Amino acid sequence: MDLKVTARAHPNLALVKYWGNLDDAINIPANASISVNLGGATTTTSVAFLPHQERDLVTIDRRAAPPEAYGRVVRHLDRVRHLAGVSDRAVVESHNDFPAASGIASSASAFAALSLAATRAAGLELAERQLSILARKGSGSACRSIPGGFVEWLAGADDETSYARQIAPPAHWDLSVVTVILGEEAKEISSSEGHRLARTSPFYQARLDALPRTLAVVRQALLDRDWRTLGPAVEREAVSMHVVAMTSRLADRPWLSGIYYWQPGTLALIQAVQAWRRRGLEVYFTIDAGQNVHLLCRGPDQARLEGALTHLLPGLGGRYLVSTPGRGAWVAAQERI
Ligand code: PMV
Repeated sequence: MDLKVTARAHPNLALVKYWGNLDDAINIPANASISVNLGGATTTTSVAFLPHQERDLVTIDRRAAPPEAYGRVVRHLDRVRHLAGVSDRAVVESHNDFPAASGIASSASAFAALSLAATRAAGLELAERQLSILARKGSGSACRSIPGGFVEWLAGADDETSYARQIAPPAHWDLSVVTVILGEEAKEISSSEGHRLARTSPFYQARLDALPRTLAVVRQALLDRDWRTLGPAVEREAVSMHVVAMTSRLADRPWLSGIYYWQPGTLALIQAVQAWRRRGLEVYFTIDAGQNVHLLCRGPDQARLEGALTHLLPGLGGRYLVSTPGRGAWVAAQERI
């Protein structure tokens, strides 16, 4: 192969969370989920398959990938090599313009960009659905960074039926997501482990039972641009995911009674959101597998939200990143080498 392909993808923020798998090996989730791509953050990844190279070379943010990340990337390249029938090793260079492990799921944009760059570099042109299926195997939520805008991951029952598709394009709704980065250190318990342990929570089944209704409410509120229905549903849904995490059993770490992603700053922001709403600023929160808080508001309220945050942040020591709904994964460059 003599092609170097550079692809880009945005991370995505789940409005209805993915938490727990039916099949951990290929990330068939226990439930469908809904997300929006975060246009304010991008992963850029280039891939070239080269003959006569002994092993895959992987750099992330200009450093050799640490062993665990390296292993995940190589396993993903193996999937692409298998699909394309090639055996060459690859050179992969990936760059995030946002802090890795910041609570913005960098693995989603990483595996979406890698799937697109690697398949094209291997001479394949996959349809969106097949690309989403491939990205899902790298990191579940990565399948949602392939389509653009507002996206639903259909849980499916097997490899072919579990993929993400667009609900509405980015321009459908002028929303802003303000991601407050309270800490940049990697979380102690990965989301993969969280998915594996979810079923040990006594509230896991209750959450799954409630999800079909939550999904219907969030999907319809998005389509109708119904902010006052969407916001509270998204908040309660995030908290229900964290209730499952907090009550999961970690048999090998008996000193932990559950997975706590929240830190004091997380709770301070939840309380601030409630106080802002009481004063008429219609902002809602959601939280992924980390301490950071994503604040959702309508476009016209963004300046007021940033003003309110500026008062709060010096005390919390945080920084923030603003996103509007982003496009799906795309090819940024392609060159013969
Ligand atoms: O794709 P993963 O394994 O990083 O899981 C993502 C889990 C959450 O971010 C907490 C929820 C979600 O749906 O993105």
